[in-house]
This record gives sequence, C-alpha cells and structure tokens, in this order.
Amino acid sequence: MKTELLPATGENIALAASLLRGGGVVAMPTETVYGLAADAFSGEAVARIFESKGRPQDNPLIVHIAEAEDLGLVARELPKEALALAEAFWPGPLTLVLPRQSRLAAGVSAGLDTVGVRLPAHPAARALIRAAGMPLAAPSANLSGSPSPTTARHVRADLDGRIPLILDGGNSPVGVESTVLSLAGEPTVLRPGFVTAEEIAEALGCPVALSPYIGRAPDENLRPESPGMKYRHYAPRAEITIIDGDYSRYNLILSKIILNSDRALQAPIYALCFEGEEAGLPLPAVCFGRAGDAASQAAALFDALRRLDALGAKTVYARMPGGSGQALAVRNRLLRAAGFRVMGAK
Ligand code: TXA
Ligand code: MG
Repeated sequence: MKTELLPATGENIALAASLLRGGGVVAMPTETVYGLAADAFSGEAVARIFESKGRPQDNPLIVHIAEAEDLGLVARELPKEALALAEAFWPGPLTLVLPRQSRLAAGVSAGLDTVGVRLPAHPAARALIRAAGMPLAAPSANLSGSPSPTTARHVRADLDGRIPLILDGGNSPVGVESTVLSLAGEPTVLRPGFVTAEEIAEALGCPVALSPYIGRAPDENLRPESPGMKYRHYAPRAEITIIDGDYSRYNLILSKIILNSDRALQAPIYALCFEGEEAGLPLPAVCFGRAGDAASQAAALFDALRRLDALGAKTVYARMPGGSGQALAVRNRLLRAAGFRVMGAK
C-alpha cells in the first residue's frame, strides 16, 4: 500500500474523511501526539487500527469527539464529574474513562465495560471528526512499543506502507499523550499527562488518586486498570539508564562510568540531557527541553528518543526530569523508555 503524506488542508481533510467513512484508517495530528484514526462504530475499521500498528488485542483505544455534546454517543452514563472536567479541560489533553455505549465497536474497549474519550484541541483533528461524521477511535500512530509520534515524519517512519494517508498538521505541541482519568470509581489518574492530578482535583473539589502502577515497572502480577501500562513503551533500540541527581552529579557519574566501567559498554554511547548542558559533558549528547521546564521536555522527548535511534545509539545515559505536576508525565515516559533503570540516587 502506498502511504500519502499530505498537509491537513480542507481538501485533504475531506479526502481523509471519505477514507474513514469507507472503513479505512488515517493518521491525524492532535495536540498531544499523532493518532491513528478509524470509525469507532465499525468493528472492521477498528480491527484495521490494531493490525496496522501491531497493537495487542487487550489494549483499549481512546475515542475522539469534536463537540462535548457528542459525549453521549460514546459514554452511556455521564456523571457530573465528567461534565465538570469536560467544561474545565476540553478541548485538550484529558481522556475520561466512562461506562461505554454498546453501539461502539467491541474492539475499542478490548472487552472492558468502559471507554476512554477525549475532545482534542488540534483544529485539524476536530475538523476531521466533524467531516467524518462519527467519533474516531485513535491510539497513538506509532508501531506498538515504539515512542509515540509527534510529527507526521515520525508516523511515516513507523507506518509507511501500512496505512493509506497521513495528515500533516505540524509538530504536536504538547508532545506526550493525554492524561487518562478513570471515573469508573473514585477519580484516579491511570496515565499522567499535561493536565495534572492537582488541576483535576481543583476542578472537581475532591481528591484524585494516582494509580500505583504509574511509577512501577511492569511485572507478571501486574493488573493495572489501564491495560496499556503493562506494556514496554516508548522504547528506542538503545539501552537507556536514567541518572538521578542534579547536573553536576550527572556529569560526575558519567565521567566515572566512562573512566572505569566494570562492564563493556555497547558503543556508541550518548548522553540524553537538557539544552545547554551538552558542551560540558564527556559524551556526545541529544537534548530534550530545558532543565526545570517540563512543558519543553514533554514537547521534545519522543523526538529525542527517535533521534537517538537514528544516530545508532546503543547505550544512553539520561538526565532525570525532576519536579512535580507536568514533570510526572515526562518522568513516567522516560522511565518506561528506560525499562525503569535508574542509578545515582543517594
Ligand atoms: O493523547 C492521547 O491520548 C493520544 C492521542 C492520539 O489522542 N492517544 C493515545 O492512545 O495515547 P493510546 O492508545 O496510545 O493510549 C491509550 C491509553 C492506553 O494506556 C490504554 O490502555 C488506556 O489509554 N485506555 C484506553 N481505554 C481505556 C479504558 N477503557 N480503561 C482504561 N484504560 C484505557
Ligand atoms: Mg500509544
């Protein structure tokens, strides 16, 4: 199959919408990461998503709507918390997990009685949902296991020849996937993102829990509420180790590793650090955002992981994204990319 990569103009959005109405899949830009969209009401279309990206069948998809009024097409119950959060954070990077409408294709929920739904802020995504005339199921548009795509070029690198069309809407400004919040019981963040637990708690006027699986390595006994949390994710080919501590500690540990490594390190070795730090390091470096600025780190992380792959990096030592709030999302993605390998904590 030939994969077209076209700018997200009105004409090309209309073309994409007709592919979607015919049961096809299309990659679309969103403000978080690019999504691989299909008709959420069609079992065959949804099956194509799983096939195109090699996604495990037990990992449910997020459904995207263009207007908050369409929430009822996707969710069969609308608790007042959902309406308050929709009002506060939509359009934007927050996914709500709610009881599902039976009309949705079964594959969307992967056997669960719930569905994740969000109203994206990217104008091209909303225009596409409107033009298609149906809610769109869309996971991130990467091959399963690799970093989520934040540019149309990233999508093409993973899915060339596997999907008919990629709409190019520029760089995804947020850069990490949406916050996933379950409203099935007590409000619980299943996946941290740009909308923080603190902001959600403030909008709801009640405490919000964090899933205990957010900071934990997957293991055999792990049965997270969000099935996606059990898979290896965001993983470039290099072996990444995160070094905990400030810049001087990072630099010191890097120098020690290089001078007296007790095992043969696979070359090439790279540092994954913050902007402006590269000149003082004993290794070639790739940067992801600025120290202490989680938004800039989120926007740059997945592209940095893909650049390390392109450079052929085999061993990578990364700076630890510190802080609370949005930094939790960046740390969570980097920890998963690193397979939870962390060193240097005092
Ligand atoms: O920002 C985003 O959320 C992007 C863009 C395209 O919207 N989408 C995205 O989808 O990241 P995906 O499929 O890569 O991640 C969806 C996550 C997975 O961890 C999945 O397990 C979880 O959401 N999820 C989806 N439906 C769920 C449900 N009903 N219950 C619990 N977790 C759910
Ligand atoms: Mg994904």
